[in-house]
Amino acid sequence: MKKNLYERLGGYDSIAAVVDVFMELQFADKQVGRFYVGHSTKSKTRLSQLIKEMLCKVTGGPAKYIGRDMRTAHSGLGITGSDWQVAVKNLTAALDKFNVPQKEKDELLAIVAGLRPVIVEL
Ligand code: HEM
Repeated sequence: MKKNLYERLGGYDSIAAVVDVFMELQFADKQVGRFYVGHSTKSKTRLSQLIKEMLCKVTGGPAKYIGRDMRTAHSGLGITGSDWQVAVKNLTAALDKFNVPQKEKDELLAIVAGLRPVIVEL
């Protein structure tokens, strides 16, 4: 049987490792870091956890996602197209850090690109 994207990415632990790096880059970023100002360390950990579970679910994993839908979660933040480009750059850098193969990288980035219309407001 063909392996789904979740399996090909290496399952939960691999996806979680990528998300940890992605979010560290987001939190420290000079452009998009401002969105996370005022969030406690625990809140940031929780946010990363929700993103891990969301990505596991949308890639075909067994995870349950208990967070809000993407439109609701980002509504009113005023995320711009330029902010979005930064996020994609940071996610790509995180995938590259773990040498995720091009095929799996492209598939994940395509899934994430599908979220753009509901996350970007400006
Ligand atoms: C520049 C791009 C982005 C920014 C600035 C951003 C920012 C944020 C912020 C500030 C929150 C917390 C909102 C709140 O608690 O009120 C949030 C929630 C969330 N974001 Fe993003 N986000 C971005 C892109 C993404 C992407 C690409 C994904 C998925 C891969 C994602 C997945 C999530 C998830 C799962 C939550 C949690 C929903 C919940 O709290 O129930 N975000 N985002």
